Amino acid sequence: MHDLIQQISDKFRARFGVEPLLVMSPGRVNLIGEHTDYNEGFVLPAAIDKAVVFAVAPRQDTVCHFVSQDYGQEFRCDLHELGRSPLRWPDYLEGVIDQFVRNGYAVRGFQCVFGGNIPIGAGMSSSAALEGGLAFAVNEMFRLKIDSLTLVKLAQKAENKFVGVHCGIMDQFINIHGLEKKVLKLDCRSLEFEYFPFERPDLRIVVCDSLVRRELASSEYNVRRRQCEEGVEVLKKYAPGIRSLRDVGFCLLEEHRADLDPVVYRRCDYVIRENIRVEEACRDLLTGDFKSFGERMGASHAGLRDGYEVSSPELDALVEAAAKVEGVLGARMMGAGFGGCVISLVEEGAVPELRERVSRDYQASFGRTPNIHVIRIEAGTHVI
Ligand code: GLA
Repeated sequence: MHDLIQQISDKFRARFGVEPLLVMSPGRVNLIGEHTDYNEGFVLPAAIDKAVVFAVAPRQDTVCHFVSQDYGQEFRCDLHELGRSPLRWPDYLEGVIDQFVRNGYAVRGFQCVFGGNIPIGAGMSSSAALEGGLAFAVNEMFRLKIDSLTLVKLAQKAENKFVGVHCGIMDQFINIHGLEKKVLKLDCRSLEFEYFPFERPDLRIVVCDSLVRRELASSEYNVRRRQCEEGVEVLKKYAPGIRSLRDVGFCLLEEHRADLDPVVYRRCDYVIRENIRVEEACRDLLTGDFKSFGERMGASHAGLRDGYEVSSPELDALVEAAAKVEGVLGARMMGAGFGGCVISLVEEGAVPELRERVSRDYQASFGRTPNIHVIRIEAGTHVI
């Protein structure tokens, strides 16, 4: 990470000739609780040791000038004339600026060089790292004194309104609130949160990237969200108090199964079960029962595959290969799905065999070798 920080700050100085403010904005893993955030349920993410580094400095005018180290591209826009770019990556940044402007914050133009090592589109939230990191940097740079929850919501809105993905709040929340060696249980309705230690010296979190990329915006993500809303609309007729799937229990769902489209029923059933799994997994953490925790990860994957139908043959194959390795406590697809990666909880001694097995099986089935990352849980976005 030190090299990355050096590269970005050197590049900024060479390009703009002033000292930048440096901000580090991490990616995330989610241990359990997938597609529950926009249903006002529970999630259990952590910030990781893969990040985007931003170097920024204010300008006197209203121009925002971005230099992307990874794409080798530059982009300029005016605070008052923001629009989507064919380059795509500027949308995540312009979306953030757009939110500052719309909310009447006293911002000016600025220069920015950024780059990182979060695999893009792999389900480790490279987009939330861009949004959360820039929101944080702008807040610091112009001394706006915006509180962290407001920054989270602003970053989420950037994605909802400007990029057009109706994502929940998980990724932006953990990006700002992550803590070293801790997972965060977030109640996505009340936004109350609680940290749980996630550290056993003999356990590792391993992320296997399928290398399959599906664009969230054009994908089924928004469709899933609508299906959940449809379930709530139908069930509301019988239980007017419910606001989201968070309020729905098995009894209500089963009682009105016949009224629901079978696909909608399956989506609702998955969400209800996944919320319960998050609560139970947190109890496992309190008792240090990582074996049970791992089994819940496996159950979560089965639900995402069969009930929510957001897995893919590649992700299923990665989970199956991992499950065959002794010392793997659990594995599941992570993030929105359809592509991206699988997260496994693994005994340290089993990591070499996991690498071997997963690479071999995946190569045999799909003709390519997945990227495998052993990750550490690190702090959320902060000034370097
Ligand atoms: C994406 C979204 C999150 C969440 C996950 C699925 O990462 O950005 O809000 O919905 O998918 O759990």
